[in-house]
Amino acid sequence: MAGDWGRWTIAVLPPALPAAGDKTVKRALIVLLIAVVVAEQAWLLAPLVKSWIFPPREDAAAAGRRVAESLGCFSCHGPGGSGGIKNPGGRDGVIPALSGGEMMMWASSESELRELILYGRKLADEPEERSGYAAGQGTGRAIVMPAFEPHIGAGELELLIAYLGANSGLQFPSEKPAAAGLELVHELGCFRCHGPMGTGGVANPGSLKGYVPGFWGQDYAELVADRAELRQWIANGISDRFRDNPLAGMVIERQAVKMPAYGEFLSEKEIDTLIASIEWLAAAHWRDMPVP
Ligand code: HEC
Ligand code: HEC
Repeated sequence: MAGDWGRWTIAVLPPALPAAGDKTVKRALIVLLIAVVVAEQAWLLAPLVKSWIFPPREDAAAAGRRVAESLGCFSCHGPGGSGGIKNPGGRDGVIPALSGGEMMMWASSESELRELILYGRKLADEPEERSGYAAGQGTGRAIVMPAFEPHIGAGELELLIAYLGANSGLQFPSEKPAAAGLELVHELGCFRCHGPMGTGGVANPGSLKGYVPGFWGQDYAELVADRAELRQWIANGISDRFRDNPLAGMVIERQAVKMPAYGEFLSEKEIDTLIASIEWLAAAHWRDMPVP
């Protein structure tokens, strides 16, 4: 009787819906299921394989920016440490920026910078309450720099210092064209996409590594083979070598943020100074310059 029922059900169901009782159909479904599971696993593994073939490379300064974000530094010091947040009663009425040379007015050495972060003040200054309900009260200003010592994990202070150094805007080359170029780099906002001093790591969905490359290390060496290619990147937003490579071209087309083509907006001379400054950044001498 049950068998008859089964046959009757098959007769009224549309032919596309297979009867689960049929052995060959069942086997086909199992094969399909296995195929789906295998494909799904491969899909899940793809990012792992990709990061193995194209390893992401992170500069200490880029890691330090993430630490600064996680510690809430930008809630007071503004996006990217650009300042501008009001502080009634404070110096100039605002919380100082972490960029544009302002650090020099507060700390005169790297060890003072460490003290500011750990204790909210230079140790030579008078102690003030920097935590709890009473934080800042009696200091004549609404907001004080907190003492971060209890909140900073192992190694994070070093990363913060690397970030603050790169973000300070205090390091400049002594050669004229490169110095003029670096002014222009600051002015055009190249570091907004390429990270402070071109240390990279700013998010870029759909790109090969998930971030905008910097002007340092292996990533840079792979993207820029020589001065001619550097000029192509700046003027055309892409190098001839990458445009002519179908696979690379596809990835670059797909990414959310693209390198702007500055060629039609800048003079040859301006592009020359940009090239000099990017080459100076890539040579990494700025990393040896003390900050502040
Ligand atoms: C609650 C707001 C607040 C937060 C959060 C904060 N700061 Fe500050 N910071 C200040 C204020 C205000 C000053 C100015 C000194 C003062 O008035 O105490 C300052 C000064 C500084 C200075 C010296 C001046 C300058 O601009 O260079 C540095 C460096 C600094 N902070 C780094 C940091 C870092 C790094 C973090 C995150 C770990 C951080 N701050 C988080 C409020 C804050
Ligand atoms: C809107 C974001 C953005 C801005 C602004 C920007 N770039 Fe780029 N740049 C990119 C992206 C994204 C790439 C990656 C290109 C790729 O893989 O397609 C790139 C690539 C490059 C490269 C190739 C090598 C490398 O390692 O980065 C150079 C050189 C470069 N940019 C220089 C500059 C200069 C100089 C400026 C300022 C005049 C600038 N960029 C401004 C997004 C930007």
